[in-house]
Amino acid sequence: MSIIFKRHSVRKFTDEKVQDEIIENLLKAGMQAPSAGNQQAWEFIVVSKAEDKLAISRMHEFAKPAEKASHLIITLGNLNRTRFHRMIDQDLGACNENILLQATHEGLGAVWLGFHPIEDRTLKLKEYLNIPDYCIPFSVICVGYPAAEGDVKLRYDESRVHFDRY
Ligand SMILES: Cc1cc2nc3c(=O)[nH]c(=O)nc-3n(C[C@H](O)[C@H](O)[C@H](O)COP(=O)(O)O)c2cc1C
Repeated sequence: MSIIFKRHSVRKFTDEKVQDEIIENLLKAGMQAPSAGNQQAWEFIVVSKAEDKLAISRMHEFAKPAEKASHLIITLGNLNRTRFHRMIDQDLGACNENILLQATHEGLGAVWLGFHPIEDRTLKLKEYLNIPDYCIPFSVICVGYPAAEGDVKLRYDESRVHFDRY
């Protein structure tokens, strides 16, 4: 099975710090994603200070895993770098998934915390991290070493597949 079938969300982490080179590998994976017209409009903020992780963990009710993660990777879409503005969500989705898959490959745990397009969440993140108006704060990815073994359930469902016509 490929790494795709091993990935799952991890929300509890050990205290072990993830090394900078591994964080860089995650960013390389993110930047390797496909994007509309190859526009690569992504940017990233890497957060590792305890006070910042705590503040971000309090930004919405499902953001608690951020507190104990080793690092947070905030993925941004820079609208000044786009030619195909309306495709940017799809570009960032692919970028996020690449980071999650690379995290699995590195033996890390990770979870994608949703921010965009929920405005009260993105406003908090923009204000706290000085993100300019031309950047969409897309998500926060929590990464760290998993505190427990995960359980992956396969989801293939042939009733969702249509051939030739719906
Ligand atoms: C757009 C998006 C937003 C998400 N937001 C959150 C979140 O805010 N908090 C959280 O704990 N998990 C979040 N998740 C993770 C999902 O809950 C998780 O992917 C889903 O339950 C399937 O589980 P799996 O990742 O283990 O396969 C999000 C995932 C996506 C794709």
